[in-house]
Amino acid sequence: MAFDRSVKIAPSILSADFANFGAEIRAIEDQGADWVHVDVMDGHFVPNLTFGPPAVKAFRPHVKTVMDVHLMIAPVDQYIDAYADAGADVLTAHIEAGPHIHRTVQAIKAAGMKAGVALNPGTPAESVQHLLDMVDLICVMTVNPGFGGQKFIDMTDKVRALRSMIGDRPVHIEIDGGVDPKTAPKLVEAGADVLVAGSAVFKGGSVDNPVVYGQNMDAIRKSFSA
Ligand code: DX5
Ligand code: ZN
Repeated sequence: MAFDRSVKIAPSILSADFANFGAEIRAIEDQGADWVHVDVMDGHFVPNLTFGPPAVKAFRPHVKTVMDVHLMIAPVDQYIDAYADAGADVLTAHIEAGPHIHRTVQAIKAAGMKAGVALNPGTPAESVQHLLDMVDLICVMTVNPGFGGQKFIDMTDKVRALRSMIGDRPVHIEIDGGVDPKTAPKLVEAGADVLVAGSAVFKGGSVDNPVVYGQNMDAIRKSFSA
């Protein structure tokens, strides 16, 4: 996984058919997804509950690109090895999930994965200042985490601040929540390079009609490359 700052689309399988993950993952990748975003929720850190390590491990053989696992769980550290074993390429933990984010990032790196840190909308850019030499990705939440299909919360200023703090470091800026052709352009302009999108990619399509997934991703790409 060589670092580059080209813009990548990472469909969130939170918006996929939960009875058909393998086919859904293959469909979005066939249609041009750059990464596959996997939302893990624990019903405690966030009000919703999705899936855990055995399910994520079952997704792995279907993912040919990058498996980007977003943990919305607390505590985190005791599960890191299970997600390494499940085959996560990128493992992202929330800074709000516990008092020891530095230790969590160290443990994710030690387990052989790229490490991400996610920031809820209420958490400032400066909170990651002292992590920038050790992380691979900062995820800027543009909704309060827990559900797909929520209204976008504008965090363009935070993205711009992070982009300037990051400088030449090989750190991705990922956006998660409410990304669509309307919201994507200003985020990319501010410095984001990984766009997570759930509803905007999956809406109107299915594994029997996957072309729509491709059209939805193209619409997002066109919005910022125009
Ligand atoms: C929110 C999740 C997101 C979500 C995005 O808690 O982390 O990844 O699925 O969904 P949309 O794109 O529908 O806002
Ligand atoms: Zn997510």
